[in-house]
Amino acid sequence: MTLETTNTQSTPQTSASYRVFISAALRQPVVVGAMAPSSAALAERMTSVVASSGEPVVVELGPGTGSVSAVIQRRLPAGARHIAIEVDEEMAEHLRRVQPGVEVLHGDAEHLDRLLAGCGVDAADAVVSALPWSLFRPETQARIVGQIGGVLAPGGAFTTIAYLHARALAGGRRFHRLLRDRFDEVIVSEVVWRNLPPARVYACRRPVARD
Ligand SMILES: C[S@@+](CC[C@H](N)C(=O)[O-])C[C@H]1O[C@@H](n2cnc3c(N)ncnc32)[C@H](O)[C@@H]1O
Repeated sequence: MTLETTNTQSTPQTSASYRVFISAALRQPVVVGAMAPSSAALAERMTSVVASSGEPVVVELGPGTGSVSAVIQRRLPAGARHIAIEVDEEMAEHLRRVQPGVEVLHGDAEHLDRLLAGCGVDAADAVVSALPWSLFRPETQARIVGQIGGVLAPGGAFTTIAYLHARALAGGRRFHRLLRDRFDEVIVSEVVWRNLPPARVYACRRPVARD
């Protein structure tokens, strides 16, 4: 059945996708970090850095059941690569079934460079992520952001989201400082209210070289 269910206004997710998402969120609330997939409005914002021409390599971190993946797939030209790294095995398997154009890797974003090397990729034109950053330990935040900076191609961009309420959390404030510290350009969007919960999109470019 392809009944469409929504995050009030979302990228259409089938009822099966929705069930897989909710089941993962109940099983591992701190890993999933949200009770609903991203909305279409948020997904459009996050993916605006994805090139629709050429042969871009796009890496998606924490694709879940694919609400953002679907928008990336719609933008991508033939010849592009779309690699998605998902830590939850059930969601990874589900995504393989519903988005056959995506190369889904079951793994942890903490091993980003190794996972990409395993599929012959050493640079990404865009990294798109909805990882639950504010719930990560400081060292995990820093390790993943460092690896993203390390794999971004010259001129590449990294986009991610921060839920509005997360800015009040220590982990959310730390993540904001980390991005400012690690990227030369960090553009923060206005609040995307059409998402549960409302969120801002961060677009980061030009990772700062570190010793
Ligand atoms: C807030 S959900 C977002 C899901 C989807 N991108 C969306 O926007 O609807 C966060 C996703 O990140 C995944 N995740 C959490 N930690 C991860 C990690 N270390 N590596 C890869 N995926 C991770 C979760 O399993 C979940 O699918």
